[in-house]
Amino acid sequence: MKTLSIDIRQAEPQDADAIAYVHDRAWRGAYAGMIPHRALNAMIGRRGPKWWAHAIRRSATVLVLEISGEIVGYATLGRNRARQLPQQGEIYELYLSPEYQGIGLGRRLFAAAREMLAGHGFKGLIVWALEENAGALSFYAGAGGRDIAEGVEVFDQKALRKIAFAWD
Ligand SMILES: CC(C)(COP(=O)(O)OP(=O)(O)OC[C@H]1O[C@@H](n2cnc3c(N)ncnc32)[C@H](O)[C@@H]1OP(=O)(O)O)[C@@H](O)C(=O)NCCC(=O)NCCS
Repeated sequence: MKTLSIDIRQAEPQDADAIAYVHDRAWRGAYAGMIPHRALNAMIGRRGPKWWAHAIRRSATVLVLEISGEIVGYATLGRNRARQLPQQGEIYELYLSPEYQGIGLGRRLFAAAREMLAGHGFKGLIVWALEENAGALSFYAGAGGRDIAEGVEVFDQKALRKIAFAWD
């Protein structure tokens, strides 16, 4: 039997290609048919390897999840951007390659991101998810998140509702 090693660590600039690849596939998997095609393509196009290398260098905290040395997921986190909410931390993004979803890896990556935010001294955290992203909503509710706020994000004139989940 083959043993798979799972590792979660901070990203380094040389991970940029692999993260851009995961980002591309995970976003298409999650949002095709929900976010208009042109807007989705443009968002993915902006987030190529150069964008990621820059994000990693300029201290945005990026975590990667590796299976036997292959990056199959990432999370980005930092200070909560919504000033009206009291939670200090935020997980901006948490994405896995489609073929690695549903086997407990998201739960692990979420726990690591949460631990890192606490380690930075942030009290509480929030995560935003699009309301139509039923999988993400179940995931965050199942992880104990409380649905505390709503908002709207507009993509190419299509307005999509989003929900904030919070942990204290
Ligand atoms: C959302 C995501 C991070 C969850 O990670 P995951 O590894 O697939 O989830 P896990 O296997 O760790 O599951 C943890 C729990 O969430 C639930 N869950 C996860 N995905 C789900 C889905 N699509 N539908 C319903 N429940 C889901 C699981 O049932 C599980 O609960 P259980 O143990 O009680 O059965 C991952 O599926 C993903 O990257 N999805 C696409 C991108 C995305 O939507 N990201 C979030 C953007 S805000």
